[in-house]
Amino acid sequence: MTTPKLTLTGNSPAEVTALAVDTLVVGTIQGADGPTLAPGAEPVDAALDGRLLELLVSIGATGKADEVVKLPTMGKLAATVVLATGLGKPGAGGALSAEQVRRASGTAARALGGVKRAGTVLSAIDLQAAVEGSIMGAYRFDRYKSATNGDGPLGRVDLVSPASGTPKEHKATLKAATAIAETVTCTRDLINTPPNDLFPASFAERAAALAGASGVEVTILDEKALRKEGYGGILGVGGGSSRPPRLVRLRYKGSKPKAKVALVGKGITFDTGGISLKPAADMDHMTSDMSGAAVMVATVVLAAKLRYPLDVTATVPMAENMPGGAAYRPGDVLTMYGGKTVEVLNTDAEGRLILADAIVRACEDDPDYLIDTATLTGGQIVALGNRTTGVMGSEEFRDRVATLARATGEGAWAMPLPEELRTGLDSKLADIANVAAASNGGSMLVAGLFLRDFVPDGVQWAHLDIAGPAYNTGGPWGYTAKGGTGVPVRTLAAVLADIAEHG
Ligand code: BES
Ligand code: MN
Ligand code: ZN
Repeated sequence: MTTPKLTLTGNSPAEVTALAVDTLVVGTIQGADGPTLAPGAEPVDAALDGRLLELLVSIGATGKADEVVKLPTMGKLAATVVLATGLGKPGAGGALSAEQVRRASGTAARALGGVKRAGTVLSAIDLQAAVEGSIMGAYRFDRYKSATNGDGPLGRVDLVSPASGTPKEHKATLKAATAIAETVTCTRDLINTPPNDLFPASFAERAAALAGASGVEVTILDEKALRKEGYGGILGVGGGSSRPPRLVRLRYKGSKPKAKVALVGKGITFDTGGISLKPAADMDHMTSDMSGAAVMVATVVLAAKLRYPLDVTATVPMAENMPGGAAYRPGDVLTMYGGKTVEVLNTDAEGRLILADAIVRACEDDPDYLIDTATLTGGQIVALGNRTTGVMGSEEFRDRVATLARATGEGAWAMPLPEELRTGLDSKLADIANVAAASNGGSMLVAGLFLRDFVPDGVQWAHLDIAGPAYNTGGPWGYTAKGGTGVPVRTLAAVLADIAEHG
């Protein structure tokens, strides 16, 4: 991950037209009566004799989201090129949302590969959104390419300051937004690292390295320690791989913590399905089955960087689900950490098994809040698609998390845990089965109900199923690259900030 260097600059017309950048980014809006210029473009328009919109329209600009149009300035201002990025349709009263600015900034940054120095006026509309969008949009993962096509990363972005607020406030916003966006790109790097290089032991080491660099306490349980302490879920799932499982615990304890927050993330470094083997088509996507773990590792580090007044612990189980000779089988009964037993009916429902161990361990510390996230079920994609996280758990906290998620621009929707679906998990042999023997549908909800059995009463719990949103298998859009997306890092940042403020 390489972040462009971001610098704040003044917002007077003279300063904007004198910006010695290669490309200056302005916004266009898809108005009811044709495209219009977004706020901030006025000095650029004036330098082009009031003809900016006319010129952009003549070369095809419509203002719709994900559109990029480039215009040479012919020496009329210091920038060589003006890049117009579409913000889409405005909301009620002509308002532009933060997410529109974030996405348009991302689309612009994606189109700026190879540019040494760019500038943007979108930051004058919403500085935080422009910073986040620019960093996330500039993200690329080319560590495994022996040669890039000559277009290096975006080097630097000059951000025109908003008219309101003080320079000190702008600096603080830039710093916090950069930290959040870099947490997203750090998460994407982990997800995008192929499974032959990112396996439980190497993932644990990378987590420890990230934590160590920011003063976060690290404990790694290897397979011996897991056996000694009875982590039957993690050991069962990890048994079929030559690369043994791990449980990583990371702790950041802020000063005068307002609450204790436990984070848990699914870290399946590759999911073949195990003995209940997955079909070959698209199995490579299962390199992303550790997205939840990557998110939680990066989020504790963020909590430390932003010094939230919270006690935050991440409990991250890591295993590779493989069909080796020592693999667990359908029919096995696993004794989980804490003693509950689980009848395995499908080895491809492995995420909930490693999560159950981790949840029980995390809750031994008596957290006020428990948040888990996982690429848990294909059912999430069936129900909500690729861009909307399913949020389940304790009703009040679930709703709070879903609302905060939408405010960050990461889609999310509250989903129920219908009591009647729980009976499907009743097992004749053990305390619970890992899947319903006879499906009644609602597999995302059934997985949530399975996890609920391991969450103690009194803990405010939210479970985020990110099977679709964690990994973009389609083309890039807005600030979202192909591959790992980093969802729901920004939601978690918002939830932690909200808990830090309100308890
Ligand atoms: N990792 C998968 C879920 C998944 C599917 C994530 C597609 C991303 C994209 C999970 O381990 C799994 O295999 N779930 C099964 C459970 C089933 C066997 C009950 C599923 O949802 O199909
Ligand atoms: Mn699976
Ligand atoms: Zn899985």
